[in-house]
Amino acid sequence: MDTKIKVSIIGAGNMGGAVARGLAEDTDRYEVRVSNPSYGKLDAIKADYPHVITTQSNYECALGADVIILGVKPWKVKEVIDEFHTIWSEHSRQESILVSMAAGIDIAALRAMTGEGIAIYKAIPNTAVSLKCGVTFVSREKSDEEDDRIVSDIFSTLGLTEIVEERMLDAGMAVASCGMAFMMRMLRAMTEGGVELGLYSSTALRAAAATMRGAAELIEKNGLHPEQEVDKVTTPGGLTIRGLNAMEEAGFTGAVVKGLRACVK
Ligand SMILES: NC(=O)c1ccc[n+]([C@@H]2O[C@H](COP(=O)([O-])OP(=O)(O)OC[C@H]3O[C@@H](n4cnc5c(N)ncnc54)[C@H](OP(=O)(O)O)[C@@H]3O)[C@@H](O)[C@H]2O)c1
Repeated sequence: MDTKIKVSIIGAGNMGGAVARGLAEDTDRYEVRVSNPSYGKLDAIKADYPHVITTQSNYECALGADVIILGVKPWKVKEVIDEFHTIWSEHSRQESILVSMAAGIDIAALRAMTGEGIAIYKAIPNTAVSLKCGVTFVSREKSDEEDDRIVSDIFSTLGLTEIVEERMLDAGMAVASCGMAFMMRMLRAMTEGGVELGLYSSTALRAAAATMRGAAELIEKNGLHPEQEVDKVTTPGGLTIRGLNAMEEAGFTGAVVKGLRACVK
Protein backbone atom coordinates (compact mmCIF):
# COMPACT_ATOMS: atom_id res chain seq x y z
CA MET A 1 0.00 0.00 0.00
CA ASP A 2 0.96 3.65 -0.56
CA THR A 3 1.93 5.70 2.45
CA LYS A 4 -1.57 7.22 2.44
CA ILE A 5 -4.41 4.76 2.88
CA LYS A 6 -7.08 5.27 0.21
CA VAL A 7 -10.46 5.01 1.90
CA SER A 8 -13.64 5.13 -0.19
CA ILE A 9 -16.89 5.69 1.62
CA ILE A 10 -20.08 4.71 -0.16
CA GLY A 11 -23.03 6.74 1.12
CA ALA A 12 -22.54 10.15 2.75
CA GLY A 13 -25.35 9.92 5.31
CA ASN A 14 -25.11 10.02 9.11
CA MET A 15 -22.58 7.22 9.41
CA GLY A 16 -20.71 7.53 6.11
CA GLY A 17 -20.52 11.31 6.50
CA ALA A 18 -19.16 11.01 10.04
CA VAL A 19 -16.47 8.55 8.95
CA ALA A 20 -15.54 10.78 6.01
CA ARG A 21 -15.20 13.83 8.23
CA GLY A 22 -13.24 11.96 10.88
CA LEU A 23 -10.72 10.64 8.35
CA ALA A 24 -10.57 13.88 6.34
CA GLU A 25 -8.87 15.62 9.26
CA ASP A 26 -5.94 13.22 9.15
CA THR A 27 -4.53 14.34 5.81
CA ASP A 28 -1.16 12.67 6.45
CA ARG A 29 -2.66 9.20 6.73
CA TYR A 30 -5.79 9.06 4.60
CA GLU A 31 -6.89 9.92 1.09
CA VAL A 32 -10.66 10.11 1.40
CA ARG A 33 -13.25 9.65 -1.33
CA VAL A 34 -17.01 9.69 -0.85
CA SER A 35 -19.88 8.81 -3.15
CA ASN A 36 -23.57 9.59 -2.79
CA PRO A 37 -26.43 9.71 -5.29
CA SER A 38 -27.48 13.28 -4.43
CA TYR A 39 -25.09 16.24 -4.30
CA GLY A 40 -26.23 18.02 -1.11
CA LYS A 41 -24.35 15.84 1.40
CA LEU A 42 -21.28 15.68 -0.84
CA ASP A 43 -21.24 19.47 -1.16
CA ALA A 44 -21.46 19.85 2.62
CA ILE A 45 -18.43 17.58 3.12
CA LYS A 46 -16.52 19.31 0.31
CA ALA A 47 -17.25 22.73 1.86
CA ASP A 48 -15.61 21.66 5.12
CA TYR A 49 -12.87 19.48 3.61
CA PRO A 50 -12.03 20.64 0.06
CA HIS A 51 -9.38 17.92 -0.33
CA VAL A 52 -11.95 15.11 -0.03
CA ILE A 53 -12.81 13.66 -3.45
CA THR A 54 -16.58 13.50 -3.95
CA THR A 55 -18.53 11.79 -6.72
CA GLN A 56 -21.99 10.48 -7.55
CA SER A 57 -20.44 7.32 -8.97
CA ASN A 58 -19.80 4.46 -6.54
CA TYR A 59 -17.62 2.78 -9.16
CA GLU A 60 -15.38 5.84 -9.55
CA CYS A 61 -15.21 6.21 -5.79
CA ALA A 62 -14.18 2.61 -5.15
CA LEU A 63 -11.67 2.28 -8.00
CA GLY A 64 -8.16 1.86 -6.55
CA ALA A 65 -9.33 1.97 -2.94
CA ASP A 66 -7.45 0.15 -0.19
CA VAL A 67 -10.54 0.17 2.01
CA ILE A 68 -14.17 0.49 0.91
CA ILE A 69 -16.62 1.42 3.64
CA LEU A 70 -20.33 0.85 3.00
CA GLY A 71 -22.49 3.53 4.63
CA VAL A 72 -25.69 2.70 2.76
CA LYS A 73 -28.91 1.27 4.20
CA PRO A 74 -28.93 -2.54 4.54
CA TRP A 75 -31.28 -3.08 1.58
CA LYS A 76 -28.85 -1.22 -0.73
CA VAL A 77 -25.79 -3.28 0.18
CA LYS A 78 -26.20 -5.99 -2.47
CA GLU A 79 -26.77 -3.58 -5.37
CA VAL A 80 -23.73 -1.54 -4.30
CA ILE A 81 -21.47 -4.60 -3.94
CA ASP A 82 -22.63 -5.77 -7.38
CA GLU A 83 -21.18 -2.53 -8.81
CA PHE A 84 -17.70 -3.49 -7.56
CA HIS A 85 -17.24 -6.94 -9.06
CA THR A 86 -15.46 -5.55 -12.12
CA ILE A 87 -13.13 -3.49 -9.87
CA TRP A 88 -12.15 -6.51 -7.84
CA SER A 89 -9.94 -8.22 -10.35
CA GLU A 90 -8.28 -11.38 -9.04
CA HIS A 91 -5.17 -9.31 -8.19
CA SER A 92 -6.80 -6.45 -6.26
CA ARG A 93 -9.15 -8.86 -4.45
CA GLN A 94 -6.27 -10.06 -2.33
CA GLU A 95 -5.43 -6.50 -1.22
CA SER A 96 -8.90 -5.05 -0.73
CA ILE A 97 -10.73 -4.53 2.51
CA LEU A 98 -14.51 -4.13 2.61
CA VAL A 99 -16.10 -2.72 5.75
CA SER A 100 -19.89 -2.82 6.00
CA MET A 101 -21.65 -0.65 8.55
CA ALA A 102 -25.06 -2.04 7.62
CA ALA A 103 -26.93 -3.40 10.61
CA GLY A 104 -28.48 -6.85 10.25
CA ILE A 105 -26.24 -8.18 7.44
CA ASP A 106 -23.75 -10.68 8.83
CA ILE A 107 -20.31 -11.47 7.45
CA ALA A 108 -21.44 -14.75 5.85
CA ALA A 109 -24.11 -12.86 3.89
CA LEU A 110 -21.55 -10.23 2.83
CA ARG A 111 -19.16 -13.01 1.75
CA ALA A 112 -21.91 -14.55 -0.37
CA MET A 113 -22.29 -11.17 -2.11
CA THR A 114 -18.57 -10.45 -2.67
CA GLY A 115 -17.15 -13.89 -3.47
CA GLU A 116 -13.78 -15.02 -2.12
CA GLY A 117 -10.60 -12.97 -1.63
CA ILE A 118 -11.63 -9.65 -0.14
CA ALA A 119 -11.12 -9.13 3.57
CA ILE A 120 -14.53 -8.45 5.10
CA TYR A 121 -15.23 -6.48 8.25
CA LYS A 122 -18.51 -5.52 9.86
CA ALA A 123 -18.53 -2.31 11.91
CA ILE A 124 -21.34 -1.02 14.10
CA PRO A 125 -20.77 2.60 15.12
CA ASN A 126 -23.06 4.67 17.32
CA THR A 127 -24.31 8.17 16.54
CA ALA A 128 -21.67 9.91 18.69
CA VAL A 129 -19.08 9.11 16.00
CA SER A 130 -20.31 12.39 14.46
CA LEU A 131 -18.63 14.16 17.43
CA LYS A 132 -15.64 11.80 17.47
CA CYS A 133 -16.66 10.41 20.85
CA GLY A 134 -18.50 7.38 19.51
CA VAL A 135 -18.14 3.67 20.06
CA THR A 136 -17.65 1.24 17.17
CA PHE A 137 -17.79 -2.52 17.53
CA VAL A 138 -15.86 -4.23 14.74
CA SER A 139 -15.81 -7.87 13.75
CA ARG A 140 -14.07 -9.80 10.97
CA GLU A 141 -14.16 -13.16 9.30
CA LYS A 142 -10.60 -14.08 10.14
CA SER A 143 -8.00 -12.02 11.91
CA ASP A 144 -5.16 -10.42 9.97
CA GLU A 145 -2.91 -8.25 12.11
CA GLU A 146 -2.25 -5.61 9.43
CA ASP A 147 -5.88 -5.39 8.22
CA ASP A 148 -7.18 -5.33 11.80
CA ARG A 149 -4.88 -2.41 12.58
CA ILE A 150 -5.97 -0.46 9.46
CA VAL A 151 -9.69 -0.90 10.23
CA SER A 152 -9.24 -0.27 13.95
CA ASP A 153 -7.25 2.94 13.23
CA ILE A 154 -9.99 4.20 10.90
CA PHE A 155 -12.73 3.89 13.52
CA SER A 156 -10.45 5.06 16.32
CA THR A 157 -10.44 8.51 14.66
CA LEU A 158 -14.13 8.60 15.73
CA GLY A 159 -13.87 7.34 19.30
CA LEU A 160 -13.50 3.99 21.06
CA THR A 161 -13.12 0.92 18.84
CA GLU A 162 -13.62 -2.61 20.11
CA ILE A 163 -12.72 -5.57 17.89
CA VAL A 164 -14.84 -8.54 18.94
CA GLU A 165 -15.96 -11.91 17.65
CA GLU A 166 -19.02 -11.63 15.42
CA ARG A 167 -21.18 -13.48 17.98
CA MET A 168 -20.64 -10.48 20.33
CA LEU A 169 -21.64 -7.78 17.82
CA ASP A 170 -25.34 -7.80 18.75
CA ALA A 171 -24.47 -7.36 22.42
CA GLY A 172 -22.09 -4.54 21.50
CA MET A 173 -24.81 -2.88 19.46
CA ALA A 174 -27.27 -3.20 22.37
CA VAL A 175 -24.83 -1.55 24.78
CA ALA A 176 -23.38 1.17 22.55
CA SER A 177 -25.81 1.88 19.67
CA CYS A 178 -29.18 1.16 21.29
CA GLY A 179 -27.42 2.27 24.48
CA MET A 180 -27.37 5.82 23.13
CA ALA A 181 -31.18 5.88 23.36
CA PHE A 182 -31.06 4.33 26.85
CA MET A 183 -28.64 7.01 28.08
CA MET A 184 -30.94 9.66 26.58
CA ARG A 185 -33.89 8.21 28.52
CA MET A 186 -31.78 8.33 31.69
CA LEU A 187 -31.09 12.01 30.98
CA ARG A 188 -34.78 12.65 30.38
CA ALA A 189 -35.72 10.89 33.63
CA MET A 190 -33.12 12.87 35.59
CA THR A 191 -34.43 16.08 34.04
CA GLU A 192 -38.05 15.27 34.89
CA GLY A 193 -37.07 14.41 38.46
CA GLY A 194 -35.03 17.61 38.75
CA VAL A 195 -38.00 19.68 37.56
CA GLU A 196 -40.29 17.98 40.09
CA LEU A 197 -37.81 18.98 42.80
CA GLY A 198 -37.82 22.61 41.64
CA LEU A 199 -35.10 23.05 38.99
CA TYR A 200 -35.75 24.67 35.62
CA SER A 201 -35.80 22.02 32.90
CA SER A 202 -32.81 23.52 31.07
CA THR A 203 -30.76 23.64 34.28
CA ALA A 204 -31.68 20.06 35.22
CA LEU A 205 -30.80 18.73 31.73
CA ARG A 206 -27.48 20.60 31.62
CA ALA A 207 -26.57 19.31 35.08
CA ALA A 208 -27.67 15.74 34.32
CA ALA A 209 -25.65 15.67 31.05
CA ALA A 210 -22.55 17.03 32.80
CA THR A 211 -23.03 14.49 35.61
CA MET A 212 -23.29 11.65 33.07
CA ARG A 213 -20.12 12.89 31.35
CA GLY A 214 -18.39 13.17 34.74
CA ALA A 215 -19.44 9.64 35.72
CA ALA A 216 -18.08 8.29 32.42
CA GLU A 217 -14.78 10.12 32.93
CA LEU A 218 -14.45 8.81 36.49
CA ILE A 219 -14.85 5.25 35.18
CA GLU A 220 -12.39 5.81 32.33
CA LYS A 221 -9.76 7.68 34.34
CA ASN A 222 -9.95 5.88 37.71
CA GLY A 223 -10.43 2.43 36.17
CA LEU A 224 -12.68 1.29 39.02
CA HIS A 225 -15.90 -0.75 38.96
CA PRO A 226 -19.00 1.52 39.04
CA GLU A 227 -19.93 0.18 42.47
CA GLN A 228 -16.62 1.46 43.88
CA GLU A 229 -17.54 4.96 42.65
CA VAL A 230 -21.01 4.47 44.17
CA ASP A 231 -19.36 3.67 47.53
CA LYS A 232 -17.69 7.10 47.44
CA VAL A 233 -21.05 8.89 47.40
CA THR A 234 -23.10 6.68 49.72
CA THR A 235 -22.69 7.70 53.35
CA PRO A 236 -24.18 5.10 55.72
CA GLY A 237 -27.68 6.26 56.58
CA GLY A 238 -27.35 9.03 53.97
CA LEU A 239 -29.57 10.29 51.20
CA THR A 240 -27.90 8.74 48.13
CA ILE A 241 -28.28 5.17 49.38
CA ARG A 242 -31.94 5.89 50.07
CA GLY A 243 -32.32 7.08 46.47
CA LEU A 244 -30.49 4.03 45.09
CA ASN A 245 -32.55 1.60 47.13
CA ALA A 246 -35.76 3.31 46.04
CA MET A 247 -34.65 2.98 42.39
CA GLU A 248 -33.84 -0.71 42.83
CA GLU A 249 -37.21 -1.32 44.51
CA ALA A 250 -38.72 0.17 41.34
CA GLY A 251 -36.69 -2.33 39.28
CA PHE A 252 -33.94 -0.10 37.85
CA THR A 253 -31.21 -2.71 37.11
CA GLY A 254 -33.76 -5.31 36.03
CA ALA A 255 -35.39 -2.85 33.63
CA VAL A 256 -32.05 -1.90 32.04
CA VAL A 257 -30.97 -5.54 31.57
CA LYS A 258 -34.40 -6.42 30.20
CA GLY A 259 -34.12 -3.52 27.74
CA LEU A 260 -30.70 -4.69 26.52
CA ARG A 261 -31.94 -8.27 26.16
CA ALA A 262 -34.88 -7.04 24.07
CA CYS A 263 -32.44 -5.46 21.56
CA VAL A 264 -30.85 -8.81 20.74
CA LYS A 265 -32.76 -11.28 18.61
N1 LIG B 1 -27.59 5.50 12.42
C1 LIG B 1 -27.09 4.64 13.29
O1 LIG B 1 -27.13 4.81 14.53
C2 LIG B 1 -26.39 3.41 12.79
C3 LIG B 1 -25.65 2.66 13.70
C4 LIG B 1 -24.97 1.55 13.23
C5 LIG B 1 -25.05 1.20 11.89
N2 LIG B 1 -25.81 1.93 11.04
C6 LIG B 1 -25.86 1.50 9.63
O2 LIG B 1 -25.20 2.47 8.84
C7 LIG B 1 -25.78 2.48 7.55
C8 LIG B 1 -26.08 3.90 7.19
O3 LIG B 1 -27.00 4.43 8.12
P1 LIG B 1 -27.22 6.00 8.21
O4 LIG B 1 -27.94 6.25 9.47
O5 LIG B 1 -25.93 6.71 7.95
O6 LIG B 1 -28.20 6.20 6.94
P2 LIG B 1 -28.41 7.51 6.05
O7 LIG B 1 -28.14 8.73 6.83
O8 LIG B 1 -29.74 7.35 5.38
O9 LIG B 1 -27.27 7.37 4.95
C9 LIG B 1 -27.33 6.51 3.86
C10 LIG B 1 -26.73 7.24 2.68
O10 LIG B 1 -26.61 6.35 1.59
C11 LIG B 1 -26.92 7.10 0.41
N3 LIG B 1 -27.28 6.17 -0.66
C12 LIG B 1 -28.51 5.68 -1.00
N4 LIG B 1 -28.40 4.83 -2.05
C13 LIG B 1 -27.09 4.80 -2.39
C14 LIG B 1 -26.37 4.11 -3.38
N5 LIG B 1 -26.96 3.28 -4.25
N6 LIG B 1 -25.03 4.32 -3.44
C15 LIG B 1 -24.41 5.15 -2.58
N7 LIG B 1 -25.05 5.82 -1.62
C16 LIG B 1 -26.37 5.64 -1.51
C17 LIG B 1 -28.04 8.02 0.82
O11 LIG B 1 -28.11 9.09 -0.10
P3 LIG B 1 -29.46 9.95 -0.30
O12 LIG B 1 -29.93 10.38 1.04
O13 LIG B 1 -29.02 11.05 -1.17
O14 LIG B 1 -30.43 8.99 -0.95
C18 LIG B 1 -27.58 8.44 2.21
O15 LIG B 1 -26.77 9.60 2.15
C19 LIG B 1 -27.03 1.61 7.60
O16 LIG B 1 -26.81 0.40 6.92
C20 LIG B 1 -27.27 1.37 9.07
O17 LIG B 1 -27.79 0.07 9.30
C21 LIG B 1 -26.46 3.04 11.45
